[in-house]
Amino acid sequence: MNKLIFANWKISLNYTQTISLVKEMVEMDCSNLIVFPSLLFASEVAQMLQNSNVSLGAQDCASKDTDALTGGIGVGQLNDINCKYCLIGHSERRIFLNESPKILHDKLALLLKYDIIPVLCIGEDHISKKSGVTEEVVMTQLDEISFGIQWDKVIVAYEPVWAIGTGVMPSPEEISEVADLIRSKVKPLKILYGGSVNSANIQELFMIKNIDGFLIGSASTKLEEISKILKICN
Ligand code: PGA
Repeated sequence: MNKLIFANWKISLNYTQTISLVKEMVEMDCSNLIVFPSLLFASEVAQMLQNSNVSLGAQDCASKDTDALTGGIGVGQLNDINCKYCLIGHSERRIFLNESPKILHDKLALLLKYDIIPVLCIGEDHISKKSGVTEEVVMTQLDEISFGIQWDKVIVAYEPVWAIGTGVMPSPEEISEVADLIRSKVKPLKILYGGSVNSANIQELFMIKNIDGFLIGSASTKLEEISKILKICN
């Protein structure tokens, strides 16, 4: 079975690099590929993807449904450009922008209202991993935003903070155990793994049965890498 590939380009690519990579993605036309460009370029990417099987995701959205939020990107505006998915709770935003569970809950609820699929990122940091409290951290991160949420419309991405951009990752067995744990708690639409996924480890990760796809940062910005990953995941 195909696995989904969520390509999170963060702010790694400039305008020219983004457009050129999207052109290549359109050529590949894989229906299991979702690209998350910088929001600055999202509406142009949306136009490029119009007749393609590749979908568009947003890296973030506003937590309020209002017209008075300077600098925000409204969920209604994402809907306007046919954005199908939106990341929330990425550890970089939790850590650097202090995004609280309340903000994440508001974004989650708002995205569901507009029929955009939220991709909620959760995962333990290095200290929690060392202390053996992964399970507690993951459960708490789900618990604190769970109120009133229809989980069968949400994708959960397990992304241990210590595995993001480091080249180290949990074993396939550990990833699988966390996926079971998440399913036992909230029964999401799908579960992804993210953190240092690349063309060298994708074959092994692909074999994890209870993982539906991957959230990929750095490797997804390189044409050669993403082509190899897509080949294995199709
Ligand atoms: P990485 O990033 O693949 O570069 O580790 C993953 C992510 O931050 O989503």
